[in-house]
Amino acid sequence: MSDDLFKKVTSHAKEYGFVFQSSEIYDGLSAVYDYGQNGVELKNNLREYWWKAMVQMNENIVGLDSAIFMHPKVWKASGHVDGFSDPMIDNKDSKKRYRADQLIEDQVARLEKKGKQDAAAALEEAMNVALNDNNLQALRDLILEQEIACPISGTRNWTEVRQFNLMFSTQMGSVADDADEVYLRPETAQGIFVNFLNVQKTGRMKIPFGIAQVGKAFRNEIIARQFIMRMREFEQMEMQFFVKPGTEMEWFEHWKETRMKWHLSLGADPANYRFHEHVKLAHYANAAVDIEFNFPFGFKEVEGIHSRTDFDLKQHQEFSGKKLQVFDTESNTNYIPYVIETSIGLDRLFLLTMCNAYREEEVPAGDKTETRTVLALPPQLAPIKVAVLPLTKKDGLPEKAREIMNNLMISYRCHFEEKDTIGKRYRRHDAIGTPLCITVDHESLSDNTVTIRHRDSMQQERVPIEKLEEIVENIVSMKSLFK
Ligand code: GAP
Repeated sequence: MSDDLFKKVTSHAKEYGFVFQSSEIYDGLSAVYDYGQNGVELKNNLREYWWKAMVQMNENIVGLDSAIFMHPKVWKASGHVDGFSDPMIDNKDSKKRYRADQLIEDQVARLEKKGKQDAAAALEEAMNVALNDNNLQALRDLILEQEIACPISGTRNWTEVRQFNLMFSTQMGSVADDADEVYLRPETAQGIFVNFLNVQKTGRMKIPFGIAQVGKAFRNEIIARQFIMRMREFEQMEMQFFVKPGTEMEWFEHWKETRMKWHLSLGADPANYRFHEHVKLAHYANAAVDIEFNFPFGFKEVEGIHSRTDFDLKQHQEFSGKKLQVFDTESNTNYIPYVIETSIGLDRLFLLTMCNAYREEEVPAGDKTETRTVLALPPQLAPIKVAVLPLTKKDGLPEKAREIMNNLMISYRCHFEEKDTIGKRYRRHDAIGTPLCITVDHESLSDNTVTIRHRDSMQQERVPIEKLEEIVENIVSMKSLFK
């Protein structure tokens, strides 16, 4: 995959109503995006597939929808107020701000490209040591030693390295003086931790069990790039699985395999996925792995699976003064459960799905060939499942097509189109990934049959109208993804 493909995917996403820059008429808001008429459908379908796989298909996992605002102490307890920051450095000439580790990582990639593998490995190692020790001076020294220049000004006139907290804050309360500083949550996970006992007691849940939720998260990312890969407002789909201490590694392996299988069920080439084990672990984790996908700009994290020990519940127990424990009938003791977390970014999953689906193909057109652009999305995820197309606008064909549309739209997102030639209409639906086009022609009036055209093979078949629902169901139902 290449940069060229990435450019094509981003412009396709805009041209066909998948993703728009936020506030575009005001020149946009950096690293914030809106999902258009097709994007919102694809995003809803991805969310639904995740929810079904995690909540509906697991008897011991339940859902939650916690608020974005939480008590400020939550973020003190979780470590985000003191520790959720990135090491930043400014170039004094361009006045641009960079993440120090990102500048060094780019240099590592340059060395690797030049075939200097040993130097690249040594630099990466030195950076990891500096990050682990929170040694900001050492990070700056590496930037100077490597003579890393600002990509904008081209100079090496750098400030000191400083830590910048990534949380957005605002004021809550009617009178400015009395208002409390509250944060926009940087992860959905803490809403699960603080509701752990509420759910466990009211749902009579027994360990091991999980709580899943989907929702917005906010991070003041300094370097926001690669389209919807790194955003300031994004959506996470997270699940915290509460287990007995000592069993966490078994569950970690279980969720690692289960989540990879889920990704592969969407049909991408397995060679485009890999696990990346964390060498440098967060202070709360005793194991962590990323699921990475081969984006056009290289392998990048889509999902993290973390063994978070009892860190979060213990912290909230201490800061709130409320016991967050369960009773173990075997040993007759109370304990704080350990947690395995699966955390996937919905926007990254969306980007992965678009990159994976985008194709340009040479196809026959009469006695010549032409290029068609097709989004080969898994049919179950397609924004529009069925396009209903009367061949002409007269002779009662639109009325017949409407009858079919009215019946199918109860179960599936359908689209009725009568403008332009049938070929043009097929191409438009190829470009947004519609798996099935139903054409109603004059024969349909006399024998109650229609033509179904399949997006990927472009094969057409004649079928009775009464069979349509069954045929569509077999192709687009999420049931098939679970078989
Ligand atoms: N609760 C754990 C947690 O938040 P994370 O690795 O920081 O872990 C989890 O985030 C996932 O959220 C990532 O794998 C990624 O898919 C997504 N994510 C994180 N930051 C993001 C951003 N700025 N823009 C889009 N997605 C992001």
